[in-house]
Amino acid sequence: MMREFFAIVWCFVLVTACSEGVTPQKSPDGTTRDDTESVGYVGGSSDDSGDGGSIGYDSDTPGYEGDSSSESGDTTWFDSETAWEDSSDESSDSDTGPAPKTWRFAVMGDSRGTPLPVNTAVLSKVVDSVLQQDVDLVIFTGDTVFGVALLRFQLPIWVKTMQPIWDAGIAVYPVRGNHETQGVNINSLGAWQNTFVGERELPTNGPPGHAKATYSKVHNNAMFIALDQYVQPHRVPQDWLDEQLALAEVPHIFVFGHEPAFMADHEDCLDDFPEKRDIFWSSLKDAGVRAYFCGHDHFYNHARVDDGDGDPDNDVHQFIVGTTGAELYAWSPPYSGENSGMTVENIAHVTKFGYMVGEVTGPDVTLTWINLGGDIEDAWSYSVY
Ligand SMILES: [Fe+2]
Repeated sequence: MMREFFAIVWCFVLVTACSEGVTPQKSPDGTTRDDTESVGYVGGSSDDSGDGGSIGYDSDTPGYEGDSSSESGDTTWFDSETAWEDSSDESSDSDTGPAPKTWRFAVMGDSRGTPLPVNTAVLSKVVDSVLQQDVDLVIFTGDTVFGVALLRFQLPIWVKTMQPIWDAGIAVYPVRGNHETQGVNINSLGAWQNTFVGERELPTNGPPGHAKATYSKVHNNAMFIALDQYVQPHRVPQDWLDEQLALAEVPHIFVFGHEPAFMADHEDCLDDFPEKRDIFWSSLKDAGVRAYFCGHDHFYNHARVDDGDGDPDNDVHQFIVGTTGAELYAWSPPYSGENSGMTVENIAHVTKFGYMVGEVTGPDVTLTWINLGGDIEDAWSYSVY
């Protein structure tokens, strides 16, 4: 009798345990999914903790991963196309998901000669150095050549000097400067557009009349926005920019053009139209942009534009990176242009040839300026959340 009683109890325990073992997991959005619905969702079957924690993401939201296992609600940014390549890293903490991928880009600008079309000697050294930085792409902030005339004969010299970058499979995203647009350059935009074909092809998603001049490009968890400032001199296509900023589904947005938004040395810059410049700058801040890259002045200058709200963590920084060959200018702060009541604070100023490297790891960004000797002379880091 007693033996039969224990047998009944043992069967009850087994049935209960088995039924718990097939309870469907809840997905991050709270819905219940079974193993056959795994597109865009990865269950934590490899989770050694055995707590049933899972890693999931919204396949409709590139670059964003909600970490359902985090009670704090923290999120992890990642590259939706390649993040899972990193998930094989056994050092990854199964409670926080795969380690965010780290990737890099370079910023170059102003390689023109005087009066030779290109300072090929310096530009070649910059190219060689950039190729040691393991960058995915290069942005170039204009004044590639001296220009003014015969642009279609000058741009090939710049292309030839930059060619090792394309040969390495690295994309280059340039904007025009005043030297590609002024003087007697007949159909200068056409010469520009005809240069960037084949392996050098540029996006054509800009506003009408801006093909390959104004455009955006998403790479990993960042959007790069190139702004032509010469279809309308000293202004940006604000309506198109607003659309891009609104549509961006990635955590990082980097914006670049040729002219400083806040005057350093050259008087011709975006502050020629201060009200439009202010709208432009506010749009960057409102979209969470932290860095605007430009050239025009032939030195490196890093400035924080204090908007006066007492929060430095939402201020947009201006980086003048006109340091890849054009003759260097002697200038030092203060910034004496039309600043519309904002305080432009000098962070770093270097009068040497060099370039910038941006490094992105999940929500974290580090921007450095490196001279041709390989020395880092400015570094700034921030995070987006
Ligand atoms: Fe310029």
